[in-house]
Amino acid sequence: MFSGVDHAGIGVADMETAFEYWIEKLGFTEVFFDYTGPVPGLEEITKTNGVRARIVMLGNRFTTRLGPGKVKLVQRLDGDGAPPLPAAIGYGEVGLAEVCLHTLHTKKIYRQLVDEYGCRSLMDVIEGAVVGPNNISLDIGYLADPWGGKVELIDWTGLWTARPGKPRIEGVNHVAFGVHDMRTTNDFYRQLGFVDQIFESTEFFTPMAPWYQEGRPLPGHHMTLFMAGQGAGIEPVRLTPLYEDCRGEWGHVGPMDFGIGVPNLTRACKKLRSLGIEMHSDPQVLDVGSSLFKYVYFKDPDDQYVSLVETSY
Ligand SMILES: [Fe+2]
Repeated sequence: MFSGVDHAGIGVADMETAFEYWIEKLGFTEVFFDYTGPVPGLEEITKTNGVRARIVMLGNRFTTRLGPGKVKLVQRLDGDGAPPLPAAIGYGEVGLAEVCLHTLHTKKIYRQLVDEYGCRSLMDVIEGAVVGPNNISLDIGYLADPWGGKVELIDWTGLWTARPGKPRIEGVNHVAFGVHDMRTTNDFYRQLGFVDQIFESTEFFTPMAPWYQEGRPLPGHHMTLFMAGQGAGIEPVRLTPLYEDCRGEWGHVGPMDFGIGVPNLTRACKKLRSLGIEMHSDPQVLDVGSSLFKYVYFKDPDDQYVSLVETSY
């Protein structure tokens, strides 16, 4: 019924710069569609009737089970164009915090991206970190996208599904987003198939300290990561105290929404209704050239920008 996270939606101010970053530097070379036109179904979210955008769906050529997700680049074309990154965004405020790419041999890839390709680092690679409660090891580093959005590189060295290979970025492993209440969110997304908990952490992740506004006490961090049987995972984060809502406007630059894959949108909508989950519109169908892109945005406990998508790429 639900197939995990299909894609992370990332706002961009211009597509040429975005392509240079996502296609040429990060290897998302598979173009599933490149659409320009109206984007219906967002009226309630954006409080406008005329959302227009260029939307480009990209997959990584080295996608794997741990990096199965695509990226959806979105350039708003109506109004003033791409809205800015929410000013107060650090990590874990309500709203999308990051897109995470599974990356085999993270340190090598990170060094290449920073030293040779000029990508801006947000956190040097930490190797051999271990997360509980299952003591799973990982390597982790962070880059900025061209507009300051957070791109995490992770190598889940402790998960047996990792496959041997040369250094490579593979695809989206998870999206992280801030929530008001961890339990409510976890219960909600369990209904949508996110049942396998990879880790849970209640300690502040010190390397993130420079990301928070100066003059404020650092928040408490509560993080969890859940994966479904297919697709990418979700990483809800609860800050204590809660900082302000950083969802920003739909289409803002940086990671800003995500889509959960479903094989049949009509059936999935029926399921949402039976669970009492509201949708922001009727299901929408975009003719994106070689295929139909079907979606509907729905309301999660924090009203994040999250959709169900049925695709036939
Ligand atoms: Fe993450």
